[in-house]
Amino acid sequence: MQKKALKLLRHILILLSWRLLLRRATADVGTAAFYGPPYLPTVCYGDDPSQFPADNIFAAAGEGIWDNGACCGRQYMLRCLSSSPESCIAGQTIQVKVVNRASILDSNPSLNGTTITLSNTAFLQIANQSSDVINIEFIQI
Ligand SMILES: *[C@@H]1O[C@H](CO)[C@@H](O)[C@H](O)[C@H]1NC(C)=O
Ligand SMILES: *[C@@H]1O[C@H](CO)[C@@H](O)[C@H](O)[C@H]1NC(C)=O
Repeated sequence: MQKKALKLLRHILILLSWRLLLRRATADVGTAAFYGPPYLPTVCYGDDPSQFPADNIFAAAGEGIWDNGACCGRQYMLRCLSSSPESCIAGQTIQVKVVNRASILDSNPSLNGTTITLSNTAFLQIANQSSDVINIEFIQI
C-alpha cells in the first residue's frame, strides 16, 4: 500500500518537473533587424567599451523587451526561422547580450520597430543580410 503511494508520488514529481522544464524552455517568436557602427555610446553602458562582448555579438532591445531598462545585460539565445527573401543560415543559433535600446541607436537599423536589433556581426552568424528583417525564435537565458 505504502509502496504504491510512493510510486504515485514519484510519478507526480516527475510530471511536475517536466512541466517546469518545458515552461522554462518555451521560446518566443519575433523579428530581428541589424545595425552597424557607431556602437557607442549606449544607454546601458555609456561610453564604456569593456561592456561589449569581444566577439561583437550583441544587440539592442526593441520596445517589447526593453522592460524599462531592465533588459540591459540580458542574454538571449536566438535563431533565424524565416525571411523574405530567404536569408536564414540553417542550424545556426547565437547568444547575444543586450547593450542598447533599439529606438535610440545612433546608426539607423535596417528596420525600425523589430523585437531586437542585432549587431552586423551577430546578424551575419544566422542570416546572410539579403533581407533587412528576419523572423526569429528567441529565449532569455
Ligand atoms: C542568402 O541565403 C539564401 C539561403 O541560403 C540564398 O538562397 C540566397 O541566395 C543568399 N543570398 C545572398 C545574397 O547570399
Ligand atoms: C528609422 O527611424 C529613423 C528615425 O525616425 C529614421 O530616420 C529612419 O529612416 C528609419 N529607418 C527605416 C529603415 O525606416
